[in-house]
Amino acid sequence: MIELKPERQDDWWEVEALYDLCFAPGREALSSYRLRDDIPPVSGLSLVARDESGIVTGAIRFWPVRVGGLPALLLGPVAVHPTHQGEGLGGVLIRDGLAAARAHGWTRVMLVGDAPYYGRFGFSRLTDVRMPPPTNPERVLGQDLTPGAWDGVAGDVQRWDAV
Ligand SMILES: CC(C)(COP(=O)(O)OP(=O)(O)OC[C@H]1O[C@@H](n2cnc3c(N)ncnc32)[C@H](O)[C@@H]1OP(=O)(O)O)[C@@H](O)C(=O)NCCC(=O)NCCS
Repeated sequence: MIELKPERQDDWWEVEALYDLCFAPGREALSSYRLRDDIPPVSGLSLVARDESGIVTGAIRFWPVRVGGLPALLLGPVAVHPTHQGEGLGGVLIRDGLAAARAHGWTRVMLVGDAPYYGRFGFSRLTDVRMPPPTNPERVLGQDLTPGAWDGVAGDVQRWDAV
């Protein structure tokens, strides 16, 4: 039995420990983290999954960014504990997170990730959007949360607090 709840401040370090377990060492050196430094994740969208013992089994976070000056959500990190991978929890976290994003009025979402995995949730290449280097452009994916939200949106992905 897995329960999903919006992430609270007290969950922070348990979620960080899960990400440390699930990702290669040095994950925070990735360029996407420079878009997140000192900016809190979007509250209400980031979710934590716990099993019946209260152990964190999965988590997803979203950050606000700007693309061509327009607001967008950056999905990730998302991770599921190795003992629970392949049970559908990653899909639940992503779908529930996207539904919450729509409900909160966000119109477009992007991420850096594997197209074969994220394609099943409706993500596809954003050919005109540039993440800070070094990022493989083929891993820059996006999805409209309202119809046409990415149409004509191009340029560098910038921090939310970029002026
Ligand atoms: C990626 C991750 C979140 C998926 O969570 P999960 O709960 O195992 O995923 P689900 O059970 O919803 O889906 C499993 C399916 O996704 C596929 N899948 C998982 N990761 C994949 C990837 N990187 N590329 C392609 N397919 C992938 C599995 O092969 C499986 O396919 P199937 O349904 O055809 O059997 C999880 O494997 C994880 O935490 N990985 C380590 C951290 C990570 O890489 N996060 C994503 C960063 S881009």
